Amino acid sequence: MPEREVYFDHNATTPLHPEVKAVMAEAMECYGNPSSLHASGRRSRAMVEQARERVARFINASPEEIIFVGSGSEANNTVLSVLSCPSGHCTCGVKRGRGILTTRIEHPCILETSKCLSDRGVPVTFCAVDSFGKVSMKELEEAVTDKTGLVSVMMANNEIGTIQDIKTIAKLAHEKGALFHTDAVQAVGKIPVDVKDLDVDFLSLSGHKIYGPKGIGALYIKKGVAFCSLIRGGHQEQGRRAGTENTIGIVGLGKAVEMRAAEMAEETVRLGKWKEVLRAGIEKDIPDVRFNGHPHDCLANTLNVSFEGVEGEAILLYLDLEGIAVSTGSACASGSLDPSHVLLATGVPVEDAHGSIRVSMGRDNTEGDVQYLLKKLPAIIQRVRGMSTAYAGRSK
Ligand SMILES: Cc1ncc(COP(=O)(O)O)c(C=O)c1O
Repeated sequence: MPEREVYFDHNATTPLHPEVKAVMAEAMECYGNPSSLHASGRRSRAMVEQARERVARFINASPEEIIFVGSGSEANNTVLSVLSCPSGHCTCGVKRGRGILTTRIEHPCILETSKCLSDRGVPVTFCAVDSFGKVSMKELEEAVTDKTGLVSVMMANNEIGTIQDIKTIAKLAHEKGALFHTDAVQAVGKIPVDVKDLDVDFLSLSGHKIYGPKGIGALYIKKGVAFCSLIRGGHQEQGRRAGTENTIGIVGLGKAVEMRAAEMAEETVRLGKWKEVLRAGIEKDIPDVRFNGHPHDCLANTLNVSFEGVEGEAILLYLDLEGIAVSTGSACASGSLDPSHVLLATGVPVEDAHGSIRVSMGRDNTEGDVQYLLKKLPAIIQRVRGMSTAYAGRSK
């Protein structure tokens, strides 16, 4: 049995907040369909609308600008696909036949949807980023043209934590007549997000990254922007997402954002301090490391580090034996051992990309957790490097 159980994988998913769990348990008693006109339906409708108000308030939107969807991935797929929909029958008013501009470090749900749309003839451009993972403004400026229909840039990166200057990028997109979407799945609940100040047209968020339930997300669609539905066949969510609402998930998401509003500021300061402790400790005790991501414009909870001459998966497994959960930079969602596309896009050499881990802290972590990782990691790296021909070769 390990000495301690430490969960450092909050960017993958978070545990349910106890208060979220409590309201979800209550909501389970209320089974009416929110579209039904009887009392049970009206009770469910009231719960859904209260959650919508909470989500809207949290990002400074109006409730009618929020639709609930099944996940962050669905929100992202919806924006890209609806804006590229070739249907000639639809009367939604979406401008058609224009291209998409995005970046090389987006989440796979943006990258793969973009590639799929490109195969179907939609012009797609993937912009480069610099060594810190910041979008190259010069390249972006050159790439956005009057043929660009949508610019989609993530607010904060899930692997390295780099935060983009969304306000400036949205302005640039608008100046060229394009709409702007941001995947804010990793940003909402970790940094303040104000859709009016940022002036974005679309924003995606997800419940399970903010101590809410899995399988629920929300999409902000600015008032007045022409849009329709990816999932058709029902009037739900203002006709923009068919399907009976996931009432319990929606209630959970509503409570999750309320709790974030109360806890986020203090937590950011606390996790930011521990991240510096972690970084300094690793630098002091382990040679040949490189830290990935932006040194300042970065999520306070996220530390991505490469260890020369080793495989991230080996580190992950040894840490797991000690009770510590982290993730590797590789495309773990697909079970692939390919090096991370995000690290490669920032110019990290393939070998170093293979040897990287992501530590993502959260609300339940303690300073003792950080010290425990610092106690265990040096010996693990030494052990894994001892077995590595690549590292032995390098040190000669
Ligand atoms: C940046 C980013 N976008 C989108 C998603 C997908 O969200 P969901 O798991 O809710 O589909 C994730 C999840 O890892 C993410 O980190």
